[in-house]
Parts: sequence; C-alpha cells; structure tokens
Amino acid sequence: MSLMVFDHPLIKHKIAILRNKNTPMKEFRELVEEITLVMSYEAFRDAPMHKVMVETPLETCEQEMVDERSIAIVPILRAGLGMVNGVHSIFPNARVGHVGMYRDEATAIPHEYYCKLPEGIENMTAILLDPMLATGGSACDAVALLKRRGVKKIKFMAIIAAPQGIRRLTEEHPDVDVFVSTCDRDLNEHCYILPGLGDAGDRLYGTK
Ligand code: PRP
Ligand code: URA
Repeated sequence: MSLMVFDHPLIKHKIAILRNKNTPMKEFRELVEEITLVMSYEAFRDAPMHKVMVETPLETCEQEMVDERSIAIVPILRAGLGMVNGVHSIFPNARVGHVGMYRDEATAIPHEYYCKLPEGIENMTAILLDPMLATGGSACDAVALLKRRGVKKIKFMAIIAAPQGIRRLTEEHPDVDVFVSTCDRDLNEHCYILPGLGDAGDRLYGTK
C-alpha cells in the first residue's frame, strides 16, 4: 500500500484559498486544476516511459518520453471533472473515462449512475480523480468497478481527505496508490469533511 499526503508549501497555500467560503467559483475551479497539476508530478513519478530519438539543432540524441496512451484519467462525476485538465495539461493525449457516482444525501451511500471507460483500459494505468475523499464509499466503489473491468494498476488522487476515507480506501484496496493533498480532522454528522471546503461539486459548478 502506498499513501502520500502532500506536505508542500505551494499546495498548502492554494488549499488555504480553496477552503475559504468567499473564494469565487472561477478561482475555485482554477485552484482545483492547479493543485491537481502539482500533485501529478508525484503521482506519475513511475510513469511508463519509452525511448525516442530527437534531433536537436546540433545532433541526434536518445531521450525518454512518457507513454501517454497507457494512462487513463478517470474522474468520478461530477466533482472529479474539475481535476481532469490538471492531468491533461501534462499528458494531453491521455484517454479519459468517466464514472458517475452520487452520494445519497440521507445515508451518504454512493450510487453508480454512469460508466464509460476507454477501450483497452485493462492494460493502462488508471488514475481516479475526486477532490473529496470523505467516508471513502465513492472511491472504494469506483476502484472496485475498475477492478471488475480488469484494470490492474490503479491510482487514486484527492485534494481533501478525511481520516475515515483514507482508512477505508487503504484497507479495502491496499494495492491502490493513494495521493491526497491534505488529511483533515473528521467528518460531521452528514459525512461532510471538517474543516473541508464544503460541497466540491457545488463550488466548482455554482449549483448552490
Ligand atoms: C462527493 C465527492 C465524492 C464523494 C465523497 O460527490 O465529489 O465523490 O462525495 O464522499 P464519500 O467519500 O463519502 O463517498 P457527490 O456524491 O456529492 O456528487 P457530486 O460530485 O455530483 O456533487
Ligand atoms: N463531498 C463533498 O463535496 N464535500 C465533503 O465534505 C464530503 C463529500
């Protein structure tokens, strides 16, 4: 099992602005994308590479490039969509799959409502994106779905996590590499993260 909690001044700085209830929607969206981009540097440290020959103005040399086609970006709808461009800005040719999950407001139990994955995903590294890891229910169900589709290498990236969500995800799926920017204190009685940032989907898309 690998768990990485980021302890980086740039990320802390951006998260402080992200949490602020007065941060407007446009800035919130930009921050989610920027934090995802910074986290991607670590999440893809082991990215599959291949050798290429490059002609510089002076000579030809052997270089290494990432196999972008072996990466599947999989946002958990809806809030995970806000993170896609952060990864795409580094790997613009990576394929994108979509998994739709919503938490029942009364029970916090996730329900799957959509799934469209790239062909051949079973041979790719899939990175699941969701800004919030609260109880861990949505993340665990999304990982289980990818496993049922035959995906063998799965990473999960969230911006804000609760201890309960980290525990559940790492216990149920110890083979998944988990990257979170920060681990918060607790969940409230409605399974919202404390101090958190509120409802990530609503803040990204202005639905409330
Ligand atoms: C939020 C969030 C995660 C989930 C986290 O989605 O984006 O998917 O809750 O909670 P959990 O760890 O307890 O499962 P939500 O169901 O609110 O849907 P939305 O993204 O469409 O707003
Ligand atoms: N989903 C969110 O958007 N925020 C939380 O705090 C928990 C789940």
